[in-house]
Amino acid sequence: MFDHIAAYGGDPIFRLGEAFHADPRDKKVNLTVGLYYDDAGKIPLLNTIEVAEKAWADQRKPRPYLPIEGLAAYRAAVQKLVFGADSAALAEGRVATIQTLGGTGALKVGGDFLHAAYPDAEMWISDPAWDNHHAIFQGAGVPTHSYRYYDTQTQGLDFDGMLEDISQLAPHSIVLLHPCCHNPTGVDLSPEQWLKLIPVLAEKQLIAFVDMAYQGFGKGLDEDAFAIRAMVEAGLTFFVANSFSKNFSYYAERCGALSVVCSTPDEASRVLGQLKAVVRRIYSNPPLHGGEAVSGVLNSPSLFTEWVAEVTSMRERIAAMRQAAHQKLRVKAPDYDSSYFVKQQGMFCYTGLSQAQLQRLRDEFGVYIIDSGRISVPGLNTENIDYFVEAMAAVVTSSVAESA
Ligand code: LMR
Repeated sequence: MFDHIAAYGGDPIFRLGEAFHADPRDKKVNLTVGLYYDDAGKIPLLNTIEVAEKAWADQRKPRPYLPIEGLAAYRAAVQKLVFGADSAALAEGRVATIQTLGGTGALKVGGDFLHAAYPDAEMWISDPAWDNHHAIFQGAGVPTHSYRYYDTQTQGLDFDGMLEDISQLAPHSIVLLHPCCHNPTGVDLSPEQWLKLIPVLAEKQLIAFVDMAYQGFGKGLDEDAFAIRAMVEAGLTFFVANSFSKNFSYYAERCGALSVVCSTPDEASRVLGQLKAVVRRIYSNPPLHGGEAVSGVLNSPSLFTEWVAEVTSMRERIAAMRQAAHQKLRVKAPDYDSSYFVKQQGMFCYTGLSQAQLQRLRDEFGVYIIDSGRISVPGLNTENIDYFVEAMAAVVTSSVAESA
């Protein structure tokens, strides 16, 4: 019956994480999957989440189905966090928000909704992209393409190329955008660049689909939502997927949300209805446990304050590791320009290393980086940073010497 089924080659990101765990060497460094590790190399269980989980468990409530759209308190807290408590769109009741299975679930629900609403619409995604973006939207029946984003020469943003590509899209084309901590490059638009792009989105009647998986890991919880709030101010109708996997260190609980900013409350209510119809066809309704815990933190003033401090400390540790890698590489490989470590921000750093260099890092040093050359920075810590720098210096120095 299943003779014709092809073998799955594995996910390009998770596959390499698995290879790392299977590597028997003691000395190895895991820079693969976007997971936050503390300085001891452990995935933290945030105190705020632990307190909220316990408070919820102690109530010993029954577990009926949640509404299709998820917990009301969770959805309201998401809206405040993403759009800001003083958002005009929230005050006007024109944002439809549902609780989803992580950010990935939000992308899938949004993709299915958009394919039904605009069957001919196609999607444009940054080059390079988080590999799964193309797969999720293609899986929802939306053809995908790339717009220029990363400039290999400057290791920064090709903003002119991006703007030119997006300006040429047909009305109702969908444009996937990262408001902060771009995955995989760590290269973001400045506020000034957002303010140049947003009028183009409006004028060309494009559908912005904003994916915010790392809120708080760039500059701060509010600062990282700048683009979203500017889009609201500009009067755009658009999509936002957000995830609590990273900023709550809560990966396995699959807590995310999808919000659609509409023109009127009536439109928002119809959009919410159709999002519910999509969810009912895929997984019926979201799970309760994680939603209660996240909502417990976001809706408690004291836990919220503590959580902001937890996010701040994760962000600052990532920034410190970027600084350390850059400073140490300047000493160990003075001819190599490692400034990208500090110019880029958030979870990921885009190295531009060649396949041969990445292979050598893996084989010779046990330093695992995915094939795109993207480093998940929190895999670095005060214990392994010198070893990482030594390995990097070895591979980049021999390449500098070869090309000289
Ligand atoms: C990543 O990019 O490594 C993370 O977002 C995890 C994932 O689902 O790919």
